[in-house]
Amino acid sequence: MKVLLTQEQLSEGIRRLGEQIQQRYQGKPLTLIGVFSGSVMLLADLIRLLDMPLRIEVLEERRGLRGDRPGPPAINIDQLRCDVEGRHVLLVDDIYATGQTLWELVPQLDELNPASVHSVVLLRKQGMQTAPLSPNFVGFEIPGDVYVVGYGLDYQDRYRNLPYLAVLEPQDKEARWP
Ligand code: IMP
Ligand code: MG
Repeated sequence: MKVLLTQEQLSEGIRRLGEQIQQRYQGKPLTLIGVFSGSVMLLADLIRLLDMPLRIEVLEERRGLRGDRPGPPAINIDQLRCDVEGRHVLLVDDIYATGQTLWELVPQLDELNPASVHSVVLLRKQGMQTAPLSPNFVGFEIPGDVYVVGYGLDYQDRYRNLPYLAVLEPQDKEARWP
């Protein structure tokens, strides 16, 4: 496994994201919607960095398989518990790759008449975008041809616990746990 972003680099980038978001909303109440489960660490860090009234929601991504590769995401916003009408909404996701996740979610949220819908991602994979929508706040640009784990991101449920971000290598795919 090769370290791509150290714990220090991650926290510095997330601190910058927090400042940009604070600047954008100027203390107005905000609804953070985390796309679970990869965004759990970022969500928790942003909550601690932002100084405004915050409502927290999560949406679970149910990504099926297409052959042996991940298929398109399927996220249903009926999972939301709170009304977002008239509220500023910020979607929190771990990685922006093709952009299909956000592209699927934003129009569904728009129908609920929020005051605004924006998105923040920790990472953006370069050269993978197929959706006509970009995230509003991006922590780090990373190469498009790597699979990364750590800081909440998993490979088959493993490596979420790493405090840094690492590139998965072939030997890391072998099971190490009973
Ligand atoms: P997209 O932008 O809709 O293509 O999908 C982004 C989603 O795919 C992310 O929210 C992750 O759930 C998943 N994903 C894409 N690349 C990686 C990776 O390198 N590691 C872990 N999850 C990934
Ligand atoms: Mg995801």
